[in-house]
Amino acid sequence: MRLIARDAPIVVLTGAGISRESGLATFRDADGIWARVRIEDVATPEAFARDPGRVHAFYNARRRQIADPAVQPNAAHHALARLARAWPGGVTVVTQNVDDLHDRAGTPNLIHMHGELAKARCGRCGAVTPWRDDLSVETACPSCGRAGAMRPHVVWFGEMPLAMEEIAAALDRCGLFVSIGTSGSVYPAAGFVAEVRGRARTVELNLEPSEGSRLFDETIHGPATRVVPDFVNRLLGPDGRGSSG
Ligand code: APR
Repeated sequence: MRLIARDAPIVVLTGAGISRESGLATFRDADGIWARVRIEDVATPEAFARDPGRVHAFYNARRRQIADPAVQPNAAHHALARLARAWPGGVTVVTQNVDDLHDRAGTPNLIHMHGELAKARCGRCGAVTPWRDDLSVETACPSCGRAGAMRPHVVWFGEMPLAMEEIAAALDRCGLFVSIGTSGSVYPAAGFVAEVRGRARTVELNLEPSEGSRLFDETIHGPATRVVPDFVNRLLGPDGRGSSG
């Protein structure tokens, strides 16, 4: 049975689960990041105002981790990039992840709604700069030259996610919404499925049922490196161009 028409646009939402098999921790699993450190201490504007050194140390460690040669895009990232390049109706990948694994897999039309570890932002002039090194309160902004306000280009709790208008437009026109590797516990991303259900087919690919599983037309459980390539093959069909599936 055809899943959707070949000219139907697809929106894919990804979360930390898609990067788990690349060696990056998720947030809410038993061994997740929030089991080791409190959100209030490292991932809010108030935390940064109170103790910028501690917040920089938290993100510096995560930025160093994505620079580790052992951390590479996995089969799920590569399958999504292949789908995004081959699907006739176009694919928008909206990721909650701040790692650069979708980027390194060559994913076109990629939106980082929670920002990116590999970029820094000046709190004074707003300039966003590619950044691979550690950040500190002494770091001077490459654009305005002032120190003391450089922060990770990451969206903290209580801040607005990025590119929400672009995301809303993609959701409005999609015929298929696929959620991959997210617990469905943080809004607005967790609300996307409710926005599109009824007018787009909705599929969840996750290790286990998420908080929003019951809202999806179809749920497929298993590790991303297995279920995502299988799903992409189903969409693209034997000729790899979306001619059946
Ligand atoms: N394959 C597929 N799914 C997996 C795998 C895997 N190998 N390992 C874990 N998962 C699933 C978990 O079952 C869980 O449902 O990935 C999901 C990860 O959920 P979270 O840890 O909550 O991460 P995420 O949903 O991305 O969090 C959303 O919360 O803390 C904020 O800004 C942060 O972007 C993050 C947001």
